[in-house]
Amino acid sequence: MKIVHYPHPALRFPARPVTVIDNEIRKVVAQLLDLMYENRGLGLAAPQVALPYQIFVWHPEGDPEKRDLERVFINPVLSERKGTQEADEGCLSFPGLYQKVRRAKSVRVQAYDQHGKAIDETLTDLPSRIVQHETDHLHGRLFIDLFGTVAQVASRKDIAVFE
Ligand code: CO
Repeated sequence: MKIVHYPHPALRFPARPVTVIDNEIRKVVAQLLDLMYENRGLGLAAPQVALPYQIFVWHPEGDPEKRDLERVFINPVLSERKGTQEADEGCLSFPGLYQKVRRAKSVRVQAYDQHGKAIDETLTDLPSRIVQHETDHLHGRLFIDLFGTVAQVASRKDIAVFE
């Protein structure tokens, strides 16, 4: 399993909902977590390793010494987006690219964890940003799609290098 970089086509395919949360899925989750830590990311979605499942993992600090803070979201559904926030964002599928992205300040997320336990939370600020970024991955949407005009112009060359 390895992280694919833009413009790998897997990044644009909508992922399928997980129907059974079993040991196979938990194995995928464990590998996603390992890769996220290895690459010092704050989140990683299954399409970023070319797996078409609605799964992502995140850690608010990306710190493998604090594994009690890691989170797993399976089949996430977002709703109740409120407010806006703008901050620099990066993505493990675009190494070295950081640009300002505007997102909802808070969002409600409903999902399941790797043990099949239901999650229903309202997140704000950075956790909200990460969950929106990773959920986008599950629908083939990428953070470059959300760049404003300034970010688009500033990153045109970087994106051309990826392509
Ligand atoms: Co990403």
